[in-house]
Amino acid sequence: MVSQIRFLMCAPDHYDVDYVINPWMEGNIHKSSRDRAVEQWNKLYHVIKDHAIVDLVPPQKGWPDMVFSANAGLVLGENVVLSRFLHKERQGEEPYFQQWFENNGYNVYTLPKDLPFEGAGDALLDREGRWLWAGYGFRSELDSHPYLAKWLDIEVISLRLMDERFYHLDTCFCPLANGYLLYYPGAFDSYSNRVIEMRVAPEKRIAIEEADAVNFACNAVNVDSIVIMNKASDGLKSRLAEVGFQVIETPLTEFLKAGGAAKCLTLRVTEPIGEEIHANVSVESRIIRMEGHLLDAGLINRALDLIVEMGGSFQVLKFNLGEQRQSTSAAEVRVSAPSHEVMEEIISQLIDLGAVDLPQDERDSRLEPVIQAGVAPDDFYVSTIYPTEIRVNGEWLKVQNQRMDGAIAISTTANGIVAKCKLLRDLEIGDKVVVDVLGIRTVRKAESREQRNSQEFSFMSSGVSSEKRVELVVEQVAWELRKIKDSGGKVVVTAGPVVIHTGGGEHLCRLVREGYVQGLLGGNAIAVHDMEQNLLGTSLGVDMKRGVAVRGGHRHHLKVINTIRRFGSIAKAVEAGVVKSGVMYECVKNNIPFSLAGSIRDDGPLPDTQMNLILAQQEYSQIIQGADMILMLSSMLHSIGVGNMTPAGVKMVCVDINPAVVTKLSDRGSIESVGVVTDVGLFLSLLTQQLDKLTSPYVANVG
Ligand code: ARG
Repeated sequence: MVSQIRFLMCAPDHYDVDYVINPWMEGNIHKSSRDRAVEQWNKLYHVIKDHAIVDLVPPQKGWPDMVFSANAGLVLGENVVLSRFLHKERQGEEPYFQQWFENNGYNVYTLPKDLPFEGAGDALLDREGRWLWAGYGFRSELDSHPYLAKWLDIEVISLRLMDERFYHLDTCFCPLANGYLLYYPGAFDSYSNRVIEMRVAPEKRIAIEEADAVNFACNAVNVDSIVIMNKASDGLKSRLAEVGFQVIETPLTEFLKAGGAAKCLTLRVTEPIGEEIHANVSVESRIIRMEGHLLDAGLINRALDLIVEMGGSFQVLKFNLGEQRQSTSAAEVRVSAPSHEVMEEIISQLIDLGAVDLPQDERDSRLEPVIQAGVAPDDFYVSTIYPTEIRVNGEWLKVQNQRMDGAIAISTTANGIVAKCKLLRDLEIGDKVVVDVLGIRTVRKAESREQRNSQEFSFMSSGVSSEKRVELVVEQVAWELRKIKDSGGKVVVTAGPVVIHTGGGEHLCRLVREGYVQGLLGGNAIAVHDMEQNLLGTSLGVDMKRGVAVRGGHRHHLKVINTIRRFGSIAKAVEAGVVKSGVMYECVKNNIPFSLAGSIRDDGPLPDTQMNLILAQQEYSQIIQGADMILMLSSMLHSIGVGNMTPAGVKMVCVDINPAVVTKLSDRGSIESVGVVTDVGLFLSLLTQQLDKLTSPYVANVG
């Protein structure tokens, strides 16, 4: 029986592989046989004709890919959205297809120039007519999807293609009758896979393996219960048979050389309109503005890359290039995303890069009340290290207590409205929390090229140094320490027990004694090993002078803990004259506040160790308050903890022998972080030597 379904095909009279616009064409230029192509095409034509009506559009010389009529346009009812090819190699096909549609009584819509969309190759109707699946990422632009929705009055679901072998949606995705879906999940990003899984019930999804996918098994023509394709594995055939589909294989190897198969060679021109189905598109767009050294600082590249990486798409609407070395550039970029969810993720990252709304688009932040203490509304904006402002009642308000991984809470106080970064656990009923990504901006200083190059900490901004550069960093850090000391600033040290094991203790003592350190953070271990070394000459049982393990030495640290416990605190043991030297001794003697945060593996612990971690976090954040620099010495855990509480603008120097730790900590996207991969004992020794050289005090002539 021939059903009333009609397909449009185009004979391969002029078919060839003449150029490369997809990976399948690579190495295949002029390698396909016209005779075999004609034979394969005819076979397909007859197979389809057995089950449906086939119309033909005349082939045109010079347009070898015109055989792939799926790319003529997208038909729904009487309406057609004509393709706008991405590549000039195919753009010449457009008028011929347009002609055919017009001659056959279709109402033809054409997209704006420079908005690529490749027809039914990238847009597939759910066979039940419920919605349109539309692909983007290679050939079709996300921004074409809202036009499809509007003109065809149908819901459009955007899917992002990730694997260039599957550059058109119809190469990896084939809706079948009765709501089934044949597809290759590997071709899509995880967000799109989730969207597919939400729309199509598990029993209706027929996910295929790569082996079938590369044979173009998804590039199939479905007429009722028949599925026509190039080739299918036995496994796939039986899976399809189980759910009532019969596979007809017809070899199309000559067309595979151009990156197409059965579906590509056909265009279904009778697509029934579903009743009660109306336009709906979740694609969102927003225009953002960026200003600064967009090129010099690589900001614009980062912005555009992240938009695409996260599944969005962009159009640069304006770009004013700063022509002089010192002048800044400004750009206006239209950002599109397949859904609000993806848009939020993209925008929150762009905010960190300093993106703002156009003045006329500025909106107040969206606020939602906290209804359960310690729990934010679902959609809360996660704070970052960058100085942030939010818009409330038309005014920009600076957020206080800037730190990452908090929520921004607004409260009304006697002094008016106050916005603060708060940890989730500190949220109170009555707080209003910023949700979504509206009315939020970060304030980025636009350093000039000169400033960037001369700033002490920028010479290897966010970089990890190699051993060779250690001395250079040491010089810079020493210089910085000196300046901060002379101007009455604040340096906080985070230190792990490795400082003591590597013989860095004595140097750290000097830094404390000589006024270079204003706060010390660590865990139980640094304090125990420091005092063990000074009481018993070992560190975790190793003789620090000889570097060998002392018999029974592993018990030493427990003895030390016990002694301190007897006195009640480190300070009391120092006062009693029991602890006579060491880092902890110097802290006590010089009134340097310290906080020791406990952990599950702590022996003892020392009476000073704060085993309540919420309190420990509070102590830490008090100590780092107002710090100009934080020296992180070989303690991944405590350093990460500190990094999380520290706003941008505080210089951070992270020293660790493990490059992974250093990278993790110095990669904060702020130029103030520097990582040094080296032995921490060596680093401290070089640092004190360098400080000795800087004998004459630096006179601060700023401020
Ligand atoms: N060589 C053609 C191109 O790269 C193949 C088109 C295949 N068509 C399709 N609907 N997937 O454009």
